[in-house]
Amino acid sequence: MSVASVRTQPFAGQRPGTSGLRKKVTVFQQPHYLENFVQALFDILPEQVGPVAGQTLVLGGDGRFHNRVAVQTILRMAAANGFGRVLVGQGGLLSTPAASAVIREHGAYGGIILSASHNPGGPDGDFGIKYNIANGGPAPEKITEAIYARTQQIQAYRTLPGAGEVDLQTLGRSELGAMVVQVIDPVADHAELMEKLFDFDAMRAWFAAGHRMRFDAMSAIGGPYARAVLEGRLGAPLGTVVNGEPLEDFGGHHPDPNPAHATELIAALSGPDAPDFGAASDGDADRNMILGRDFVVTPSDSLAVLAANATLVPGYRDGLAGIARSMPTSCAADAVARALGIPCYETPTGWKFFGNLLDAGRATLCGEESYGTGSNHVREKDGLWAVLFWLNLQAATGQSVEALVRAHWARFGRHYYSRHDWEGIPVERADALMAALRAKLPTLAGTTLQGLRLAQADDFAYTDPVDGSVSRQQGVRLLFEGGSRVVFRLSGTGTEGATLRVYLERFEADARQHDLPTQQALAPLIALADEVAAIRQHSGQAAPTVIT
Ligand code: G1P
Ligand code: ZN
Repeated sequence: MSVASVRTQPFAGQRPGTSGLRKKVTVFQQPHYLENFVQALFDILPEQVGPVAGQTLVLGGDGRFHNRVAVQTILRMAAANGFGRVLVGQGGLLSTPAASAVIREHGAYGGIILSASHNPGGPDGDFGIKYNIANGGPAPEKITEAIYARTQQIQAYRTLPGAGEVDLQTLGRSELGAMVVQVIDPVADHAELMEKLFDFDAMRAWFAAGHRMRFDAMSAIGGPYARAVLEGRLGAPLGTVVNGEPLEDFGGHHPDPNPAHATELIAALSGPDAPDFGAASDGDADRNMILGRDFVVTPSDSLAVLAANATLVPGYRDGLAGIARSMPTSCAADAVARALGIPCYETPTGWKFFGNLLDAGRATLCGEESYGTGSNHVREKDGLWAVLFWLNLQAATGQSVEALVRAHWARFGRHYYSRHDWEGIPVERADALMAALRAKLPTLAGTTLQGLRLAQADDFAYTDPVDGSVSRQQGVRLLFEGGSRVVFRLSGTGTEGATLRVYLERFEADARQHDLPTQQALAPLIALADEVAAIRQHSGQAAPTVIT
């Protein structure tokens, strides 16, 4: 089988965002579009990381439309570029946390994950690709920027034109040119990893005692993983996992586990006959949502509760080295870190910023307000891991989700939290809004807005404590006396127009004030956010499109 060099021309706009390159499926279907990006990656790896000849690559995706075609294309290109072996998930599928686990377990050179996470799928939906390094985590900005620079120069890509499709259904080994393709079953591996961290006996007993749970896999890749553990190893009744069959278009749903998109799950957890515990994961199974009966847990609180109770779980019995949260995530975890006497790191948005802290042993648990939680067991957020953590806590304490959270608020105070997304703003208007806001920053500190005194107003910059790399302009922060915060940033994962994310947080120490409706508790902050940033005026929209 001979290697061919195919002539091509650069495409504009192949810069990876918060989590890889995401575009409409129709963009990825253009001839050479995917190939250019993959060749750019393979071109920069020798200099950025080391020679690829003979190395092992991990490959798989969340099964969305175009996954199967893209996997075959990448296999031919990996062979033509000299990789020695590719480990592919059966059917070309791998959840994001499973891909991270496989890279680490096999000591692979790196991995390619095909996913647009929680974005809708199908022929009119989104597709995405991202590269993970040998620690199992998303490539740092130095690498993603090098890929982007290379996409702007690219002239040709390498492939095996005569090669047919590789059979990805049958587990085991085959050859593609000089490269070995190994089809693996990642579900069992991930389940075993979970078994090492959590008390499976206690969780089995919890189900055996008659407790009930509903896990909504949102017709995405998480279904098989959740079934294998919950219904398989833990003895939960069949049917505990709903929407458990991965579909190319996620059944037409938006596979984003949050109160705006998981409405069916929220309804199912309501009322006296509802299950004790509800959970959901997203398109590529790295996000999680946690619910009790008639009770929704915010992701920021979730991270804090897990951290405060970590020693109840076997894998974290010896305590935590530190906690890391993305900047817009609430300060609930900081309060726990203070009580435990451990550091709490504040990083820019995106899981890639946690990698160095985890590798250096500085942080054990990480989380983002965007329904992402994880630990040092992999280098991605892990939906099922978070769900099992909560299950383990319920089994170990005998307490409900709501009781655990209320006890936490009573001890640490409550951080009311909400995110307002303004989607589909024309890019120039969103950029103008942010520019105007940044220009205003020097005049804001010390002023009083809606009765709240602004202690600090800045644009968040981060210096990685491990490698010293600096990331600027990571979000405009308004920090008020008493702990309230408003943060503004533009999304880096969308594929249509711009999305403004407004993050709102208020700290309330008084337990008698812990039962307010969230939007009401945050009303002054919501009003001042619009006042300061002139959101309605710039966006031309009357209200946010999504409130979580
Ligand atoms: C969003 C979330 C961010 C998360 C990322 C990938 O990015 O806000 O926390 O890491 O998706 O799941 P954004 O669209 O805000 O750039
Ligand atoms: Zn995801």
